[in-house]
Amino acid sequence: MQVNTDSSTETVASVILAAGYGTRMKSARPKVLHPVAGRPMIEWCVRAAEEATGRPPLVVVGYGRDEVMQLLGDRALYAVQEDLLGTAHAVQRAAPLLAGQADSVLVTYGDMPLLRGETLRALARDLAAARAAAPAKTSLAFLTITRDDPQGFGRVVRDAQGAVAAIVEEADCTPEQHAIRELNTGIYCFDAAWLWQNLPAVPRSRKGEFYLTDLVALAVAQGRQVLAVPGPAEEVDGINTRVHLAQAEAILRRRVLERLMLAGVTIQDPAATYVDDTVEIGQDTLLLPGCLLQGQTRIGAGAVIGPHSQIADSMIGDGCRVAWSVVEQARMDAGAEVGPFGHLRKGAHLGEGVHMGNFGEVKSSYLGPGSKMGHFSYIGDAQIEGDVNIGAGTITCNYDGARKHKTTIGRGAFIGSDTMLVAPVSIGAGARTGAGSVVTHDVPAGGLVYGVPARPPRAASQEGEAAAPGAGSSETAVQ
Ligand code: UD1
Ligand code: CA
Repeated sequence: MQVNTDSSTETVASVILAAGYGTRMKSARPKVLHPVAGRPMIEWCVRAAEEATGRPPLVVVGYGRDEVMQLLGDRALYAVQEDLLGTAHAVQRAAPLLAGQADSVLVTYGDMPLLRGETLRALARDLAAARAAAPAKTSLAFLTITRDDPQGFGRVVRDAQGAVAAIVEEADCTPEQHAIRELNTGIYCFDAAWLWQNLPAVPRSRKGEFYLTDLVALAVAQGRQVLAVPGPAEEVDGINTRVHLAQAEAILRRRVLERLMLAGVTIQDPAATYVDDTVEIGQDTLLLPGCLLQGQTRIGAGAVIGPHSQIADSMIGDGCRVAWSVVEQARMDAGAEVGPFGHLRKGAHLGEGVHMGNFGEVKSSYLGPGSKMGHFSYIGDAQIEGDVNIGAGTITCNYDGARKHKTTIGRGAFIGSDTMLVAPVSIGAGARTGAGSVVTHDVPAGGLVYGVPARPPRAASQEGEAAAPGAGSSETAVQ
């Protein structure tokens, strides 16, 4: 597979180490599966590696491997590390699948979601250039950062001439080495042939682990050059705790919002807007403060979303408005409106131009184009055609305690305020129900019913006379 490096015949493979426990997350979930800005950590890492190499990375899995493999599927190759014997031991697991497959091998980590593909590609390019200049002398390039707080990082030790001599792990540092501020990020690009040949020579450390960092001293001892490449400090922090997770979330969220703004989405207050990387938004859509847009959500052009709305796994058409509302697994066609304080639940589908006002809830129902549902209604398991007016306080009584039942309403029907539609029930096109009706029987097209239980006018008055002569009509009883 070809890669877009300067030497365009170079091929690059990548290994992502992700076998660790992530103990400090204090979680039942494997660390690399914790979501950041809407994607599991490992997905960001796989994407960066893929961008850099043009092929699926090899992920070294261990703890939680079934879950990791299930998530990534064929987006990665896998090697299993049974015992966690260190970073060199982990990379060695990849040898059977990768040896002979590429000119260079990038090594990254499943807990570094901030690392960009272009950063990895630049590192591979640096190694390729060095190899082109001195093929027999090249071993590896690695990313470094310089930082006042070096805690946890291996130190880059240089010789009297200023050449890289070794990486020394913090626990093994002398006091002078401890003071070094040039740090190993743990991200490398190796000459592949050299890597696979020398990995088995890495010695066991005092702690009983095999450190990938020891390859640096090994290369130096062989008289090979090692390139220390300064990298972007804000991309190379691994996530170890939930504090780190929140910090990474803030950075990735900002990147997502910037991408959207540059693509034509107006975001009034990015600090108060939360959009998953998985969400797509069209041009000239306005996001007001307090929006959470999550999962597989698509929003069209020219919509106004917010303030204070949550939309998850939903399709929102062009020109829609969602204000102070919650929309989950639902669909709104062009120009539909919800809110303030509406709730679209799973399977709700508002047709073009549907208006759903204050305090409404819709679940598993379709409302046809132009239908209106202004205030305080619940519509569940209903099929409603276009231009229907649903009066304030209308309820589909869809649940009998054991089963759910369907309601259908024909085109242009007028449902009076506070109507109870006791499902299964069907209201014909152009039919009307009086305010406060409890509708227990189907209403024919063009019909009118009212009362409790609702009846057509003549039947209602006959009933009233028969049951209680002179005791008032059902009109007065119903108001
Ligand atoms: C490593 C580097 C250190 C560098 C730092 C940057 C080594 C020996 N040290 O230290 O120089 O400054 O990263 O963050 O490489 N892993 C496995 N299998 C293992 C061991 C580790 O998959 O057997 C994975 C872990 O899941 C983890 C990553 O490799 O994500 C790093 O391992 P860790 O042991 O934490 O190395 P550091 O101490 O961070
Ligand atoms: Ca670590």
